[in-house]
Amino acid sequence: MISELQQLEKEALAELAAATLEEQILAVRTKYLGRKGLLTGLLRNIAQVPDTEKPLFGKRCNEVKDILNARIEKALELQSSRKKDEVLQKEKIDVTLPGRFVAYGRIHPVIQVRREICAIFASFGFSVVEGPEVELDYYNFEALNIPKDHPARDMQDTFYIEENIVLRTHTSPVQVRIMEKVKPPVRILSPGRVYRPDSDISHTPMFHQMEGLLVDKGVSLADLKGILTAFLKKVFGDKTTLRFRPSFFPFTEPSAEVDICCVICGGRGCRVCGQSGWLEILGSGMVDPAVFENVGYDPETYSGFAFGLGLERIAMLKYGISDIRLFFENDMRFLKQF
Ligand code: FA5
Ligand code: MG
Repeated sequence: MISELQQLEKEALAELAAATLEEQILAVRTKYLGRKGLLTGLLRNIAQVPDTEKPLFGKRCNEVKDILNARIEKALELQSSRKKDEVLQKEKIDVTLPGRFVAYGRIHPVIQVRREICAIFASFGFSVVEGPEVELDYYNFEALNIPKDHPARDMQDTFYIEENIVLRTHTSPVQVRIMEKVKPPVRILSPGRVYRPDSDISHTPMFHQMEGLLVDKGVSLADLKGILTAFLKKVFGDKTTLRFRPSFFPFTEPSAEVDICCVICGGRGCRVCGQSGWLEILGSGMVDPAVFENVGYDPETYSGFAFGLGLERIAMLKYGISDIRLFFENDMRFLKQF
C-alpha cells in the first residue's frame, strides 16, 4: 500500500507540473483529492493495511495530501498571475506616441445667456416650460387680446404657414397654454425660438425670447419692477442703468418696456442703439383682465405680471456685440470667444 501511495504521489505531481490551464489544475485536484478521488480511496481502504503499518500509512497519506494541496494552490496562483500578465501585454499602450486631438465644442453665447437667466429665475421660484414654435393664430394673437384685423397685429410682422397657423412671433402664447392647464398660483419661465420677417443689425428673422409669467393673489406692478430689477442687476451687475418706459401691449395693462444703457457706445448714441443711447431688452406689464377671462381665471381674484425678453439683446449687451447677425453666421472665430 505504501508503494502504491508513493506511485500515486509521483503521478499526481507529474500531472500537476503539466497542467497550465485552470481547468486542468482543478481536474487534477478532483482526480486525487475529490470525494471519489484516488488518494481519498486509498485512505478509505486503510482497513486492508496490516496493523503495524497503519500509523505510518496514515501519516504518509496526510503528508501527500498536504503536499498536493500546497502544489495545487501554488499552481493556481501562478496561473492567475500569468493570465493577468497576458492581459497587460495585450493592452499595452505606447505612451511615447503623440496623443489624439479632441476638438471641444462650446456652448453658444445665446444658450449660455439662456441658462444663466433660467438659473436666476429658478432661484426666484420659477419653473421652466416650453411651447410649440408652429402655433395657432388663436394662441399667438387672439387669446392674447389681439383680434384679427386689429392694428396691434402690425406690431409683429408674421410668417404665416396657413390662414390660422403661424410661426410664433413671441413666446407669449405659452402664457395662455399654461394658464389653460393649471390653476393659480403660476410662476413660469418659457425660453424658445420665435420668428418675424425682420432683418438688420439688431433684428433677425429668427431670434430667442424668454417669457416670464407670475399670477397669484395681490400681485402688483411693484412686484414686476422689483423682480425685473433684481434679475437685471444679477445679469449686468449692480451699477447697470435701466429704464422702465411706458409702452403698449394688448395683453398687458399697464405695460412697460425696459431699456438698458447701450454698452457699445456707453449711452452716447450709435448705430446699434439707433442713436438713442438705449437698447430695448424686454416688454412687460400686468396681465390684461381680458387674457385672464380667455383662460377662465377670475380677474377680480387674481392679478399677475408677464414679461418677454430678447435673449440675443441680452447677450449683445453682456458681451459687447454690435451686430445681432453674428450669432447666426456660425463663424468659428466669433463663436470661439465665448
Ligand atoms: C413682445 O414680443 C411681447 N410678447 C413681450 C411681452 C411679453 C410684453 C409679456 C408684455 C408681457 P416685443 O415685440 O417688444 O414684445 O419683443 C420683446 C423683445 O424681443 C424685445 O424687447 C427685443 O429684445 C426682442 N426682439 C424683438 N424683435 C426682435 C428681432 N427681430 N430680433 C431680435 N430681438 C428682437
Ligand atoms: Mg418692443
